[in-house]
Amino acid sequence: MEKVLALIEEKKQKFAESGLFEFMRDQSIDPRQRLAFAPCIAPFTMGFGELNEYLFREEPTNDPLQAIVNNHTYEDDHHWWWFLEDLETLAIDKSMKFSESLKFVWSEETKASRWVIHQIFRYAFGASPTTKLVILEVIEATGDVFLSMSALIAEELRTITKKEFVYFGYSHLAVETGHTTGTAGVEQLIKDIQLTEETRQEAFKIVEDLFEVFTQFTDELLVHAKTHSFDQPFAEPREILQPLKVA
Ligand SMILES: [Fe+2]
Repeated sequence: MEKVLALIEEKKQKFAESGLFEFMRDQSIDPRQRLAFAPCIAPFTMGFGELNEYLFREEPTNDPLQAIVNNHTYEDDHHWWWFLEDLETLAIDKSMKFSESLKFVWSEETKASRWVIHQIFRYAFGASPTTKLVILEVIEATGDVFLSMSALIAEELRTITKKEFVYFGYSHLAVETGHTTGTAGVEQLIKDIQLTEETRQEAFKIVEDLFEVFTQFTDELLVHAKTHSFDQPFAEPREILQPLKVA
């Protein structure tokens, strides 16, 4: 498994160079605007809670690797609640017709957000605990990059608004960095998993493919954040970035 983890680390560094993170890091842009894509992550965030509960988890189990996966799912299956709280804190939890909100969730603007979930489902359905761990490691790696960036923004917003962000903020990042595996011993256990050449090649493909769809996801978020004012996330897209630059 060591080689697979090394590839994930390599891909993670590349992923961190995506345009979205450059945008999120740019302090000349209003911090609220740097999270203006927030509604677009809904399909991913809500879907991921469900994947943990119904796809990754298998109870009861005698398999030590599936037990690691299970532990992980109990931590990650409810983070979507934090996302809903942050929508309220960001003041974008607007009233809208049910049909309008459905249209947004299934729109072109949120296509990559849904596609990530579909691809995770495709690879994790009926998969071995080892494959599930590979997938979870990729999700952890991308989540770490994203949350490290969003937590900085949440911190800026906390200073301005005195409000805490539970999904985008440091508390979520702290949970994510602490739970891949629970303990150092478990991390070593994952590293030491022996793969056949065939399963290693399969794992490489999953890592490549998932990083690809996560990158498409960040591209989609960047387009949304650049074409929607943070306080009108459901309006028609338009170029709004320049006027929102902090002087
Ligand atoms: Fe999470």
